[in-house]
Amino acid sequence: MRTDVAIIGAGPAGLLLAHLLAADGIASVVVETRTKEYVAARIRAGILESASVDLLRAAGLGAGVDAGGDQHRGIYLQWPSQRHHLDFVDLAGRSVWVYGQTQLQADLVAASEAAGRAVYYGTSGTALHDLDTGHPFVTFADSAGTPQRVDAAAVAGCDGSFGPSRSALPADQTSTWERVYPYSWLGILADVAPSTDELIYAWHPDGFAMHSMRSATVSRLYLQVPNGTDTADWPDDRIWAALAARLGHGQDGWTLTPGPVTDKSVLPMRSFVQSPMRHGRLFLAGDAAHTVPPTGAKGLNLAIADVALLAPALGRLVRKNDAALADAYSDTALRRVWRCEHFSWWMTTMLHISGDPFDAQLQLSQLRWVTSSTAGAAGLAENYAGLPIGF
Ligand code: FAD
Ligand code: DHB
Repeated sequence: MRTDVAIIGAGPAGLLLAHLLAADGIASVVVETRTKEYVAARIRAGILESASVDLLRAAGLGAGVDAGGDQHRGIYLQWPSQRHHLDFVDLAGRSVWVYGQTQLQADLVAASEAAGRAVYYGTSGTALHDLDTGHPFVTFADSAGTPQRVDAAAVAGCDGSFGPSRSALPADQTSTWERVYPYSWLGILADVAPSTDELIYAWHPDGFAMHSMRSATVSRLYLQVPNGTDTADWPDDRIWAALAARLGHGQDGWTLTPGPVTDKSVLPMRSFVQSPMRHGRLFLAGDAAHTVPPTGAKGLNLAIADVALLAPALGRLVRKNDAALADAYSDTALRRVWRCEHFSWWMTTMLHISGDPFDAQLQLSQLRWVTSSTAGAAGLAENYAGLPIGF
């Protein structure tokens, strides 16, 4: 096959890139190891920044968010006996939307299928070739096991943290930064109306807890747990009891309503950045280049922001052989990546119990400051609600 851009990975970054390129008249072929059903069912992010929603709307992909998304003005930050609302609209002039990654993925798949775009699911053996030349190509075996080759002007590595694109950059020309955290999240999805109108992020001596949601009838909740935690040690009753304690059930009349748990998983946490995000004709986007710990809801939004920069860069490279935007892509994208890396690390280390009592006092001091100082609150709001694309 010959196309303009070979895209590896059909997650949000890969499918959105294919969509934005098509709007600019650029053809692509997407290669994905998992099945369409597997990718669609993965329960992951839940919050879209305002710039992400603007981009989806401008790309003709906003109908789902507009019909099924829930616009939130801000979040609650709390610690024992205290709950404070931060209003992002008042503080930073922007809101966020609750819209699950599963819903966004479904919108992207629907748009891709309606346009008849080439997406190969269930592939194996993806390999990248001749990235240093103007004629790179990708090989793989399709779902029937038949060998395939895609020749393209550029390759977009949108294959997440475990795909082959990241390691296709020469090690001696690449820098990486990593931080592994000494705790994980136990996440549940529950068929029960949320007990809160907006998300609650809770500091508690037993560990962090968060109350999020997916819809008026589905709640999403998280608990800080030690690394290596087995979900078998957390029956539903134990989870709801821990959530009630950490989220402040009974505090000022607030109650947490438990319900049937439909999904339960443990998520380790990591910060990771690889630089540059480009080598020759290979361009990395989304989790393929960077990972953030989930506190602060940046992972999906960063993937969207990368692709918003990459699509016009590839458009100019492919159509006009003009490499100006492509050459600037990595540096431009990394400015926002590092801002979000810092914000995610900061939210994580402000809210999770490390076991060190000195850390705990610093965390409480920081929480008191961001909830009582307009300057402190505005800094959190500006970062959480999201910076403009191209920041
Ligand atoms: P991905 O969604 O990972 O997509 C990459 C795709 O590439 C995958 O479909 C994968 O199967 C495919 N692929 C891999 N290897 C190959 C190969 N060899 N050939 C072809 N295809 C390949 N972010 C938040 O903002 N909030 C959250 O609450 C949150 N929760 C998360 C929970 C979990 C368990 C995980 C893993 C991530 C979470 N994230 C969250 C992060 C967010 O989901 C990611 O940042 C987002 O999915 C990034 O999109 P992406 O398209 O870059 O990568
Ligand atoms: C969700 C996840 C996050 O990491 C976050 O900061 C907010 C919401 C969620 O899954 O809904």
